[in-house]
Amino acid sequence: MSKSSGRVILTGAGGQLGQTLIGLWPESALSRHELVALTRSDLDIADATAVQSSFAALKPDLIINAAAYTAVDRAESEADAAYAINERGVANLAESSKCPLLHISTDFVFDGMASMPYSEDAATRPLGVYGASKLAGENALLARKSDAMIIRTSWLYSEHGANFVKTMLKLMSERDTLSIVDDQIGSPTSTRSLATVIVSAASKHLNDGHELPTGIFHWSDGAVITWFDFACEIQKQALEAGQLTSRCELIPIPTSDYPTPARRPAYSVMSRRRAFAELDCSATSWQAELTRCLSLRTRP
Ligand SMILES: NC(=O)c1ccc[n+]([C@@H]2O[C@H](COP(=O)([O-])OP(=O)(O)OC[C@H]3O[C@@H](n4cnc5c(N)ncnc54)[C@H](OP(=O)(O)O)[C@@H]3O)[C@@H](O)[C@H]2O)c1
Repeated sequence: MSKSSGRVILTGAGGQLGQTLIGLWPESALSRHELVALTRSDLDIADATAVQSSFAALKPDLIINAAAYTAVDRAESEADAAYAINERGVANLAESSKCPLLHISTDFVFDGMASMPYSEDAATRPLGVYGASKLAGENALLARKSDAMIIRTSWLYSEHGANFVKTMLKLMSERDTLSIVDDQIGSPTSTRSLATVIVSAASKHLNDGHELPTGIFHWSDGAVITWFDFACEIQKQALEAGQLTSRCELIPIPTSDYPTPARRPAYSVMSRRRAFAELDCSATSWQAELTRCLSLRTRP
């Protein structure tokens, strides 16, 4: 059964994921649905009154929340700001929405003590303020809405905004040597791959009339690598593509040699079991996703 075209609100539209979703929309299975892309200046999700009047006026059929406080280290000294957006902001969306809501969360809800991929229902224990505020947002959402879907993702990067890939390309073009942490294991995820999963889940609901899948899902590009491994692959591909002209010596270091305000999980690989079982998505290649991202950038 086909539903008539609907309206989708995207909050946090100015971020990495938001910009990727906007770019992908016209060619996607959701193209006949209107996307109302709201940046932070259009709608501050921490402002309950603004959220309420925006949703009442726009009457969306689906809300995708890509807005978040994402400054992991700064969050340690700005806990109020992190919680205002990542917990209260998400609660505001939940309280004002009369339609399903798709929200994005993080691998930083885990403590990194595991040695096998975290399942969707694995125990959470964030190590820092950012992860704790994101977990509080998950809980605020699930307590308020039965029609909410949460996709946790990890090590997100894209051609937009600030991320590890762009930082590496810049530093590799400027330096002869670079030290990279080699004892944190996780899975890079391109915003393109995550956005494709979001579109797939949303289109089942908006195009095919199915309920939006609810509860917690995990999505990444499936690697089990360290930041050092990721940096090596970035350099290899960038040299091959001519985006870097000379090799920078990459030196693996332990986390203890690169102290940061926030502690990070030593292992944050997440199982995608539910995504594969319940969403129309297939495994992506993390190297191919990186190649695609690099092809969209010509200069570091
Ligand atoms: N980046 C990662 O490595 C990573 C890893 C795992 C999970 N995630 C999650 O993935 C999602 C997307 O992340 P991303 O990398 O696309 O983040 P991002 O690039 O930092 O984008 C977040 C966007 O949210 C906006 N925002 C912040 N506070 C807001 C508010 N009060 N109201 C409305 N918008 C607000 C930001 O605007 P300003 O720039 O103006 O502040 C920014 O445009 C987030 O939920 C994040 O927690 C990210």
